Amino acid sequence: MERVIGIDLGTTNSCVAVIDVDGVPQVIPNRGGYKTTPSIVAITEGGRRLVGHIAKRQSITNAENTVYTVKRLIGRKWDSDPVRSVCGTVSFTVEEGPHEDVRIKLRDAYYSVQEISAMILQEMKLVAEEFFPGEVLNRAVITVPAYFNDAQRQATKDAGQIAGLDVIRIINEPTAAALAYGYGKSMNKVIAVFDLGGGTFDVSILEISEGGVFKVIATAGDTFLGGEDFDHRIMDWLIDGFKVEHGVDLRADRMALQRLRDAAEKVKCELSSVSEADVNLPFIISHGPDNTSLHLQKPVDRETVEKLCIDLIERCRELCRSTLKDAHLTASQIDEVVLVGGMTRMPAVQKACAEVFVREPSKGVHPDEVVAIGAAIQGKALLDEQEDLILLDVTPHALGLLTAGNHFDELIGQNTTVPTSATKTFTTSRDNQTAVKILVMQRESDENQLLGEFLLTGLRSATKGQIEIEVTFSIDSDGIVSVFAKDCETGLEQSIQVTSSSGLTAEEVSQMMASAEEYMIERKGSDELEGVRQNAEKLSADIEKLFPQVEALVASSDFGREALGKAREVLANTKEAIEKSDLALIKEHSEALSRTLKMFKGVVSRPT
Ligand SMILES: Nc1ncnc2c1ncn2[C@@H]1O[C@H](COP(=O)(O)OP(=O)(O)OP(=O)(O)O)[C@@H](O)[C@H]1O
Ligand SMILES: [Mg+2]
Repeated sequence: MERVIGIDLGTTNSCVAVIDVDGVPQVIPNRGGYKTTPSIVAITEGGRRLVGHIAKRQSITNAENTVYTVKRLIGRKWDSDPVRSVCGTVSFTVEEGPHEDVRIKLRDAYYSVQEISAMILQEMKLVAEEFFPGEVLNRAVITVPAYFNDAQRQATKDAGQIAGLDVIRIINEPTAAALAYGYGKSMNKVIAVFDLGGGTFDVSILEISEGGVFKVIATAGDTFLGGEDFDHRIMDWLIDGFKVEHGVDLRADRMALQRLRDAAEKVKCELSSVSEADVNLPFIISHGPDNTSLHLQKPVDRETVEKLCIDLIERCRELCRSTLKDAHLTASQIDEVVLVGGMTRMPAVQKACAEVFVREPSKGVHPDEVVAIGAAIQGKALLDEQEDLILLDVTPHALGLLTAGNHFDELIGQNTTVPTSATKTFTTSRDNQTAVKILVMQRESDENQLLGEFLLTGLRSATKGQIEIEVTFSIDSDGIVSVFAKDCETGLEQSIQVTSSSGLTAEEVSQMMASAEEYMIERKGSDELEGVRQNAEKLSADIEKLFPQVEALVASSDFGREALGKAREVLANTKEAIEKSDLALIKEHSEALSRTLKMFKGVVSRPT
């Protein structure tokens, strides 16, 4: 059976899961044994790419070339508030790219956000492939926040393609969590999923019914509300306090900022289980004419952090209330509340959630792993026709056209079940109008966002109002929008997949795919070389250890001297092949080393 991997591509952490042949979901640990991998990429001074824990560990000393939080940038335009906000706080360089989009500078190269996300996806694919040696795992279901818009979904799909993955479906994170919660159980329940991660917040209300039907009733969220915002509040508070005490602004020092970021997150997490903790950052900065070292030492209590973040928690609460309203339900009609995301470990967040839904949340799922498990479940269901699973998700944003007078004409409402399509007929507004411009809009948080525009040209001459244009909007199961326009009389038609102007062109995607593939070949080659080298070194060391003993036993015979000479030769040849990093030669000598070691062991264990 072919496996599909489920990938939770998180702002802070990513996770990969599969469903075993016997139907049991399994979260796959990385080489270090961790079930989640930090969504961090770095390039070292020597040009080596690091992803995950290894990138996180060097983030303080290589702050400028370590990139994190890319999910907050994906599918966004350079000239947007979220991008400005990220630029103002991160330690790496963000610049404007070719299609009003964003590029990230690491060492001397510029990368699109999709490429950085692809590096994380490639790493997750590798984690899975190392766990199932010999298997190539190309098919994936990737999750996105439910509130992601068309551009963000499309960009995530592109990232998957760049990583060499066949993305068979994009699914919403809270929906994936609900799948993991209800999978294999027979139930009739209305549940709320409260997902507060590192970068985003989503709340979804679903109906789970017997026979494996998962129907989303309503969803809402904020793609710029998550753990990072809590960290920034703590950081700002520490920086301001330090300024008052020492008159020094730590914002000017990248390394200090990176240390503060880590410390703020750490103390926030500690305060979820204890009520007081310390921030301790010795030698945070040198200051004054004699470069005096200053230290940051500050006790922090839970109440202070809660006060600093009170409005963030209030925003979550408000979104829960509006989702209940959109679902036409009251809190008492919710049977179960499922907590997802690392931030739901914070007691004040749990309390807020319990208050809006008037019940204690269920502790039945693992907040860091359920999303990837849900993605794997959906992946299996898409391949396996036997699987009883029906997933009905909704679109988080209303879709429509911008008509004369900047009026938003809605075609598909928020919380409509997807896939869906809607058609509307428009007439020309001028005599002899030869072209019609169609502006496709998405309504997001009461603002109209332009998704894309296209021109239907070559219309026949006619007086105004005579030509009828039929416009069809479709949203597929990935939540991706396409639009189709037709001149009703002539049948002239045109369709577009709406790629917002912040997306990549097809050529760019294929170029990026090629370089990602090249990296993979190199990486696999170097991983193999490393494995073979380590094995050869171990064999050589074992032989060298036994050498004096064997020499004492056999050196008196011609045969023995010859064998010892050969062993010395094999050791020297291996050493040379390792120095040259010659994989084929090391492999060849390793076989001779194994034979020699076996022979040596035989000699020393022989009764005298
Ligand atoms: N014990 C804890 N107390 C408070 N916060 C925590 C705790 N453990 C983890 N977190 C926070 O949870 C966040 C990470 O959560 P998670 O891994 O679910 O996010 P993500 O999936 O990467 O992000 P997103 O879903 O928003 O894209 C971080 O901000 C982290 O600091
Ligand atoms: Mg998450």
